[in-house]
Amino acid sequence: MLAAMTLAIVNIGELVTLAGPEHYRTGAWMQDVGLVHNATVQIKGSRIIYAGPAADAPDMPGEVDEVDAGGRVVTPGFIDAHTHLVFGGNRIDEFERRIRGESYEEIAARGGGIRSTMTATREATDMELLTLAQRRLALAMRCGTTALEIKSGYGLNERAEKKMLRVIAWLRDASKQRIAATYLGAHTVPPEFDGKADAYIDLLCQDTLPKIARGKLADYADVFCERGAFSPAQATRYLLAAKAHGLRLRAHVDQLSRSGGAELAAACGCFTADHLEYTEESGIESLLRANVQPVLLPASVHALGKTRYPNARAMIEAGLGVVLATDFNPGSSPTLSLPFVMSLACTHLKMTPAEAITAVTYNAACCLGWHNELGSIEEDKRADLVVHDCADYRELCYYIGSETARVVVVGGRIAYNRDGGGE
Ligand code: NIG
Ligand code: FE
Repeated sequence: MLAAMTLAIVNIGELVTLAGPEHYRTGAWMQDVGLVHNATVQIKGSRIIYAGPAADAPDMPGEVDEVDAGGRVVTPGFIDAHTHLVFGGNRIDEFERRIRGESYEEIAARGGGIRSTMTATREATDMELLTLAQRRLALAMRCGTTALEIKSGYGLNERAEKKMLRVIAWLRDASKQRIAATYLGAHTVPPEFDGKADAYIDLLCQDTLPKIARGKLADYADVFCERGAFSPAQATRYLLAAKAHGLRLRAHVDQLSRSGGAELAAACGCFTADHLEYTEESGIESLLRANVQPVLLPASVHALGKTRYPNARAMIEAGLGVVLATDFNPGSSPTLSLPFVMSLACTHLKMTPAEAITAVTYNAACCLGWHNELGSIEEDKRADLVVHDCADYRELCYYIGSETARVVVVGGRIAYNRDGGGE
């Protein structure tokens, strides 16, 4: 039998470990990123066997591959807990229409928006979607993202939704990054059901959801609860049916208007409530009581040219396990960069760099049930980590739009090396 490969990351100036108890970080605890100066990480096979001060690192017997971090920052791999990474086409025309004054909602009401990506996605072959998605995963890797949640939701009929979920399953098997699959059948009302949203929800609840669950095609179900998409009553019906069929729940709520979406997500037992731009105190209290993690998506606010960002400070102070994600999609958030999202979170949500890093690592792992393995740099955890081109972890949020990842290690192997090499 071949001996497991050993790898040591040496000469780490700042090691951001996020080490601590196995529960999402809340309140002042989000500020503690478990920093170790002058550190070493040792890896055997896919697992971390030591992470701490270089001075205390044990000798590693045999041949050891070494990455010299050159005094730089090392963090856990970033986890993007909300993406729509699989889709056909793009929405560049809508981008320009918005610049000229039309709103996201107006464009959607005129048949564009999610429906326009639906058409392009229905028309694309499995192979075309897979190739596009693989390129996007490679871009995410360059931003330091080592695990992601990916949603369907641009098929909006059984055949095309299954095609999307098939592509996500292939990505999961073939890619280095860890991937969770979410069925977003209730993203918007498809044209075949114009004016008949209730009938579409009936179809999903009675027919499509049971098939998706039985086929184990998704880990989670998600819904877009908003004017022009689904009402709170319809969203609730869909979520409860998904839960009854064994799917775990996530929900897009309170994004463009206040609909009591946070309360709804709490009442349905969602793992996460996502967006929350319009969520107020009562919604925050409901999330807290029901243990729901908020997933905040400031890049979508930025890209839509809006100004109302979610109230992250109130959420952190209330004790919620705040997560940040890209919401990568062709309409409201065409970015795969979590460092960009972290920068927006600092500037607009008034989160500190430490809070932002916690929100894309340990807290993100928790909201996907991955925290026993991912999200922190600790003994026995999977070796997913990033050597960044900076000496102070706060630079990750301070510099805007620069690619900081130099070396990305996934499962103990070098998956990306900006200077060449890797596998
Ligand atoms: O999270 N809000 C709903 N869904 C996406 C946008 C999808 C799209 O515009 O294609 C979001 O912002
Ligand atoms: Fe989204």
